[in-house]
Amino acid sequence: MADYRKLFDLSGRKALVLGAGSGIGRACAEALGALGAEVHCADLDGAKAEAAAKAIVAAGGAASASAADAASGEQVSALVARARKSLGAIDIGVTTPGINIRKRVFDYTEAEFDKVVALNLKGTFHFFREVGRVMVEQRRGSLIASSSVRATTIEPGLAVYGATKAAISLLVKGFAAEVGGHGVRVNAIAPSIIETPLTAPIKARPEIYETYAKHTVSGRWGKPEEVAAAVAFLASDAASYVNGSTLLIDAGWTAIDGPPTGLTKTA
Ligand SMILES: NC(=O)c1ccc[n+]([C@@H]2O[C@H](COP(=O)([O-])OP(=O)(O)OC[C@H]3O[C@@H](n4cnc5c(N)ncnc54)[C@H](O)[C@@H]3O)[C@@H](O)[C@H]2O)c1
Repeated sequence: MADYRKLFDLSGRKALVLGAGSGIGRACAEALGALGAEVHCADLDGAKAEAAAKAIVAAGGAASASAADAASGEQVSALVARARKSLGAIDIGVTTPGINIRKRVFDYTEAEFDKVVALNLKGTFHFFREVGRVMVEQRRGSLIASSSVRATTIEPGLAVYGATKAAISLLVKGFAAEVGGHGVRVNAIAPSIIETPLTAPIKARPEIYETYAKHTVSGRWGKPEEVAAAVAFLASDAASYVNGSTLLIDAGWTAIDGPPTGLTKTA
């Protein structure tokens, strides 16, 4: 029988998490640390990255931190060099920073379009390229990017954001095809609606909060740790045959095409 406990164990693994300062990224850093990986926490906000690293250490793990702008190829390159030096290797690379400017296409300025694409899509490209080079050299590694249910289903005002998330899912497939033969896995997560600072403005509007909750088959929003647990799976040897995929963590958001009607009750 396979040693299933060992497949999920990340002891001795080295992880770089970009976006570790908040929300899903912070939870991912904590999850990887709790499962045994040494984590380098990076974020545009260096103080928040430090706080994430401190929390991991306080929980008995090993972590360090630094600041980097995910939208800057130069800064991502320097970050990866720094993380590799500090960790000695990079077995796991997770990137979460993303921006959404919620506007109809007619109202978008070119500068706003460029800003969303520069962080969401080009940022993922920088991260993949820089961490991917290290992993190909090592002949091992797991890369995880942040897509969204908005890669497949949409609402007015999310066209540009959704287009970047769909592009990330295809970038994942293409890059997996290029590096898979070198022992590297490349995947993405696609959450629906998770309680984080990013979604706090939506949460603050009760009617929208409820509508979004009802859009899932669970009838509720998700927690960052529910996404982080899936990221930990993708990072681990338990996902050794998962490559080029976008894993839905959406509580059925994309499985149904309307709010539950109550007809699902069996009694
Ligand atoms: N929260 C959700 O419901 C949800 C749903 C689907 C997809 N997502 C995606 O998940 C990812 C993370 O979302 P979140 O809710 O955890 O967001 P968040 O705002 O809580 O955290 C994002 C983190 O990224 C950092 N960051 C922002 N710009 C950066 C930059 N240029 N360089 C480096 N770091 C930067 C922020 O400082 C912050 O710590 C995003 O890509 C988002 O599109 C979130």
